[in-house]
Amino acid sequence: MHNLGILVSGRGSNFVAIADSIDAGRIADARIAVVISNKADAAGIATARQRGLNALVIPSKGKPREEHDREIASALKQHTVDLVCLAGYMRLLSPWFVQQFPRRILNIHPSLLPAFPGLEAQEQACVYGVKVSGCSVHFVDEELDHGAIVVQKTVPVLDTDDEHTLAARILEQEHIAYTEAIRIVLGGNYEVRGRRLAKLSQKAEGRVQK
Ligand code: GRF
Repeated sequence: MHNLGILVSGRGSNFVAIADSIDAGRIADARIAVVISNKADAAGIATARQRGLNALVIPSKGKPREEHDREIASALKQHTVDLVCLAGYMRLLSPWFVQQFPRRILNIHPSLLPAFPGLEAQEQACVYGVKVSGCSVHFVDEELDHGAIVVQKTVPVLDTDDEHTLAARILEQEHIAYTEAIRIVLGGNYEVRGRRLAKLSQKAEGRVQK
């Protein structure tokens, strides 16, 4: 059984998509061991409580980054988390934290990386005028929105789109992409060469229920 730790700061729709996928058997052999928010008023943390999950608030305000990260890491370790999923966690992680969970931290970003890293990716895409955008689930390394990519999904940018309509259509794909990425990582049948993740065979995927 794999223990997932989910970090949120806000709405938490990606967290809910992951929880639904586990409940529906789309992600097998996994449970959400703990949901942690750095903000007490995050909707995601209220949802986690409603779903009967372990939900913790570890406030970040006014704390040096690494001190806060140490508190988060210790909570994750207490819950024997083996995969950390950032789901709208709006705080940069320290190199120290990243090193605690090598290739065991996933993030989702609402663009086709390396395009439009950082904040307001959907607005950046609209302003730039790209015709295709999407989302990326990637491993977290020491640089922002930078680690090896596990799954990407594309979304057309329509002439009528603004950042809100585009964000909504990307979000639908985010929910699908995160489940796929977790299945790949938990399945373990992949290799990362340089930045490039390649699946090795269908064997591990066969173990995961549809
Ligand atoms: C998503 O767009 C995600 O890609 C980005 O932050 C947003 C979080 O949304 N990192 P939610 O809290 O999962 O609904």
